[in-house]
Amino acid sequence: MAEGGCTRQRVIIRSTPPVLLALLNLTIGGRRVAYGSTGAHYTKIVAMDRNFSKIDRLIASIDEALRITTGEAPAPFRQNPAGDITSAELDEQQRRHAAGLMRINHTGEICAQALYAGQAATAHHDATREAMQSAAEEEIDHLSWCEERLKELDSRPSVLNPLWYAGSFAIGAAAGIAGDDWSLGFVKETENQVEAHLEDHLEKLPAGDARSQAILDQMKADEAKHAEMAEDAGARDLPEPIRRAMTFTANIMKSLAYRV
Ligand SMILES: [Fe+2]
Ligand SMILES: [Fe+2]
Repeated sequence: MAEGGCTRQRVIIRSTPPVLLALLNLTIGGRRVAYGSTGAHYTKIVAMDRNFSKIDRLIASIDEALRITTGEAPAPFRQNPAGDITSAELDEQQRRHAAGLMRINHTGEICAQALYAGQAATAHHDATREAMQSAAEEEIDHLSWCEERLKELDSRPSVLNPLWYAGSFAIGAAAGIAGDDWSLGFVKETENQVEAHLEDHLEKLPAGDARSQAILDQMKADEAKHAEMAEDAGARDLPEPIRRAMTFTANIMKSLAYRV
């Protein structure tokens, strides 16, 4: 259905304290609701029909941007693949190197959130928008796992993340405006490049850092799936100059995020 019409949209409320959950139940009673428990908090998934105007979407995008770039990552949907795997003792140099690589991956996931949000905001068809939103949900897991690993490595996310989010959102929105097939082509190319980059990081991580390796292994498998999803949905192949520009921008991001 065209933009601005009645849109079925999945709203996800994560880490909501039980008291708020009760209030939300009252407010949205009668609509289809499913929820589960994640430790001390609740993860609740609400599927409902309502109208989302362009202004609604803009406000939701700003809210998402602030939450993603300034707070802790939302609760993941899947368990951290590092589970109870034990990494070998890392010396200071190895720890800093592993943290630098995981900070790059964390920033990459911030960019993924922004790209998908931008693309969803300007997608021409609901099916494309829903595909973007569902892929972004899986990327939430990646974001959360990278953040957890950064903490374990006594490190922190990049201070430049708000900047990367803003730039990536703009690029995603522009890709969406260009048309759904181009936007899907952009997803396919991005995911292919990320998959290759993760392979590179798996080789560069300290040999004993089994926890980071387990996370990157799962991410790599997921990114390949996202590229396939885009291909199946009708992605167009991007022109070579655009592919090169994407690699160039990603390389700048990587060299900055490794340090700051
Ligand atoms: Fe990802
Ligand atoms: Fe992905």
